[in-house]
Amino acid sequence: MIMARLIDGARLAEQVRAAVAAETASLRATGVTAGLAVVLIGENPASQIYVRSKVRQCKAAGIASYEHRLPATTTEDELLALIAQLNADEAVDGVLVQLPLPPHIDSDRVLDAIDPLKDVDGFHPVNVGRLSIGSGGLIPCTPLGCMMLLDTVVENYRGMKAVVIGKSNIVGKPVAMLLLERECTVTVTHIATRNLPEIVRTADILVVAAGSPGLVRGDWVKPGAVIIDVGINRISTPDGSRIVGDVAFEEMAHAGAVTPVPGGVGPMTIACLLQNTVQAARRRRSLPRAA
Ligand code: GUN
Repeated sequence: MIMARLIDGARLAEQVRAAVAAETASLRATGVTAGLAVVLIGENPASQIYVRSKVRQCKAAGIASYEHRLPATTTEDELLALIAQLNADEAVDGVLVQLPLPPHIDSDRVLDAIDPLKDVDGFHPVNVGRLSIGSGGLIPCTPLGCMMLLDTVVENYRGMKAVVIGKSNIVGKPVAMLLLERECTVTVTHIATRNLPEIVRTADILVVAAGSPGLVRGDWVKPGAVIIDVGINRISTPDGSRIVGDVAFEEMAHAGAVTPVPGGVGPMTIACLLQNTVQAARRRRSLPRAA
């Protein structure tokens, strides 16, 4: 069987982390330690795992991390006060509030309160706006990781047909903007889209962020298409459980290239968070990018 090319996210993420570590070392030589504040409210198990991983990878890359774990009973005003304090803290270059927040807290108000220059998630309306006009704000980590993975296999995006499945603010919409900026012809599909397989069959580039295990079947995919699978779904198996993507991976032999799950987009997200943090550290101090 001819196999599609595998796009190795674990390896690329390692390269990104190494480049970040080199940058933090050169920043330190000028007396600057890049710092990331991570705020976690409540006990969401998946969020706890993500935050632990973010803090660990910061340390390994030479970024100071400031962890703020607060109880699920924290009020919106208390959280806003903490964000104001982090915005004003010179040691903090990035502020990340782990989502989802408890239902009594208005996420939009919280994200709006983060200084756009420290918004390493790229979720603040100023950064969303900058992305939509292509003018260099902080770019959300998962879409940025998707583009870096695509860059390893796509030479010239101009005129390619890109289909995005999922319209979330975290992945679908920003990745669509990034593909548009590269002059792809972009279609964003979602839960209410009719004839999804038919639209997917037109894609030269397919980015899937639907949260639906094995949604995209082999006969939906045009031969030679490049597929980025953002899905991380835990499914039950006879001997326990395993993580699968939104794409029926074993049916993708005819694709041009595909990201595996795990080991594709997943490792890139935190690597891009580290990259955004050093970028924020440089920009806030008007330091040029290290050579
Ligand atoms: N929860 C799930 N994904 C993300 C992310 O990219 N950033 C934050 N802050 N929370 C998340």
